[in-house]
Amino acid sequence: MANDHWPLFDLEVHTPRLTLRYLDDTLTSELLAVAKRGVHDPAVMPFIVPWTDLPSPQMEQEAMRFYARTRADIRPDAWNLQFAAIVDGDVIGSCDLGAKHFATLRQFQTGSWLGREFQGQGLGKEMRMACLLLGFDGFDAEFAQTGLWHDNAASLGVTQSLGYTEEGRRRELRRGVPDEMVGFRMPRAYRRSGATTSRFTGCLRLERSSGSDWLPLSDWWPSACGGFVRSHGARGQTEV
Ligand SMILES: CC(C)(COP(=O)(O)OP(=O)(O)OC[C@H]1O[C@@H](n2cnc3c(N)ncnc32)[C@H](O)[C@@H]1OP(=O)(O)O)[C@@H](O)C(=O)NCCC(=O)NCCS
Repeated sequence: MANDHWPLFDLEVHTPRLTLRYLDDTLTSELLAVAKRGVHDPAVMPFIVPWTDLPSPQMEQEAMRFYARTRADIRPDAWNLQFAAIVDGDVIGSCDLGAKHFATLRQFQTGSWLGREFQGQGLGKEMRMACLLLGFDGFDAEFAQTGLWHDNAASLGVTQSLGYTEEGRRRELRRGVPDEMVGFRMPRAYRRSGATTSRFTGCLRLERSSGSDWLPLSDWWPSACGGFVRSHGARGQTEV
């Protein structure tokens, strides 16, 4: 059933092997069971926020807070969309698209992780491609950005194989110690296709209904699913 009160719940991206589904509480619980089984070698922290260092059940409780807060905090000028990645009905990991002042800057950032048992099978790359599809073809972005610790070989592998270019390094705290984060970006023109059978469905309209400015939320939600997928109308789907 389409969700009229929070239309983002209808948003899905489909690739040949994966479905991205906007995170609800049930999917979040399944996702955290995957996280509990392990996301990375505990010796090396791949994230800026070291949430995987927390012991269970604190890790799950803090993550539930984070996902609920992220969903509640969505605003036209600053949003973050969290997804569960699903293969054959099972949640295998998560990715997110976020942006500030998207209507003007037209750029979005991505982040992602998979449970360890699902890594190294090309699924991380397919998940990133799904994010790029949604950002570029769904939201009409001009640039995609991502960031990773300088020694994150798997994330670097995904990023480089998709044709991003490095855009600079910055010093950040990693488990309380200074380290180097590398930023990458991709203009929409450089996106390599490869996701020929992919498609997205559901709510896609995050902005635009009043030209270059976002609408206030009260006006924005009711019209949120109208028209972005232009040729198919509300709640349509696009094959790319
Ligand atoms: C990062 C992550 C999402 C990548 O997903 P993945 O499924 O493991 O990666 P894939 O199998 O899709 O590999 C994609 C590419 O990277 C390369 N790659 C993957 N792991 C690699 C490694 N450890 N070293 C070098 N290259 C690697 C692959 O060869 C592939 O390149 P190709 O397409 O040119 O053949 C996943 O490893 C993960 O969740 N890691 C832990 C959390 C994390 O680091 N998140 C990102 C924080 S920035």
